[in-house]
Amino acid sequence: MKVLVVGRGGREHSVVEHVNKSDLVTEIYAAPGNAGMERHATCVPIDEMDIEGLVKFAKETEIDLTIVGPENPLNAGIADAFIAEGLRIFAPTKAAALLEGSKDFAKKFMVKYGIPTAAFRTFTDPEEAKAYVKAKGAPIVIKADGLAEGKGVTVAETVEQALDAIDYLMVEGAFSGAGKKVVIEEYLEGREFSLIAFVHERNVFPMLPARDHKRAYDNDEGPNTGGMGVFAPVPDISQEIIDYATENILQKAADGLMEEGRPFTGVLYAGLMQTESGPKVIEFNTRFGDPETQVVLPLLENDLVQVILDVMDGKDPQLKWKDEACVGVVVASKGYPREYEKGKLIPQGELKENTFIIEAGTKRTDAGLVSNGGRILLVGGIGKTLQEAREKAYDYLTIFDGNDDFFYRKDIAKFS
Ligand code: AMP
Ligand code: GLY
Repeated sequence: MKVLVVGRGGREHSVVEHVNKSDLVTEIYAAPGNAGMERHATCVPIDEMDIEGLVKFAKETEIDLTIVGPENPLNAGIADAFIAEGLRIFAPTKAAALLEGSKDFAKKFMVKYGIPTAAFRTFTDPEEAKAYVKAKGAPIVIKADGLAEGKGVTVAETVEQALDAIDYLMVEGAFSGAGKKVVIEEYLEGREFSLIAFVHERNVFPMLPARDHKRAYDNDEGPNTGGMGVFAPVPDISQEIIDYATENILQKAADGLMEEGRPFTGVLYAGLMQTESGPKVIEFNTRFGDPETQVVLPLLENDLVQVILDVMDGKDPQLKWKDEACVGVVVASKGYPREYEKGKLIPQGELKENTFIIEAGTKRTDAGLVSNGGRILLVGGIGKTLQEAREKAYDYLTIFDGNDDFFYRKDIAKFS
């Protein structure tokens, strides 16, 4: 089979690595891809939003299966365009991807189908939004309705912060108007985890739970980022909680989307808060998580491509998970998520067994591998226990110590 992976980040590099392990696959293409993917895939310079260009490439190259990483092309209808041309794509249609594309749609959908989530209200008028915040008090959560590169959420600790967020989104029109409409949500207290599933219509097959560390610095301090580290599975999330969330959140979402005439095919991601009254949805994404994918796929025993084909054919892929743990630590450019420089030489170490690297913001030059983004790469470790896995990752990371161009968190998956 010829497989095309759409995207350019760590998540897509991880997908390429696992597609590469499949016996079914002879050729892998990535569009536009990154330096890390070049080892296994032919990177073609087509932007992930150039849907026409991607369809044309897939037809000409006779791609058998396309897997999409990022949310923007999903919301722009990449799956619809491929399906219209008879091309096989593992991705939700634009109608189904609205579950991530509009928080207002997602919240109303959850209420309609009895999916537990934070209480909320939607506003299109900033003055009404502000009056509501003043009446409710802090902490309170302000969310842009539309896609905002993961930056549309403010967890406001004070009313002042909440009002500023409303101004930023609704009055200043940040994120190209994605925040003209805002969802204001009850603050949920608890432990966060991500539960991600392969889904086709009413069939839901969950992966192992993962937990992402979103703050830039140790002890969850500093600004929010796209993720500084991640681990799977999550020791404080029991099988009972996972079963409950699968049945009452993921399954209800898949069934609800069928009822709405928006059948879902692809990866459905539930960002959850384990509260005193059980798991509640923080957000739905309609794609693989980044960086969760980088630690979940290494624990999958099955052939990823076979899993996708089975799921799309309405079969049970019989997922099997290794009885191991995986920890991923992100190395970022100094200054990220604010200002940072690119083009810095990335130190290279020797990868020992059960240690791996997934690249995101990298570029190959004559001088060697250099940084080309905020988050450079993820160092992963696999072990019998979380502790063993984290030692593997941190053992490699010592090559970055004393290097002023990069930083990484020292407390990923630390439980004591
Ligand atoms: P999101 O961009 O939707 O992933 O949200 C970013 C982060 O904000 C989440 O990972 C949570 O840590 C936090 N968050 C979002 N909604 C809530 C909420 N209702 N209560 C508490 N924290 C939240
Ligand atoms: N890890 C959060 C996300 O993929 O959106």
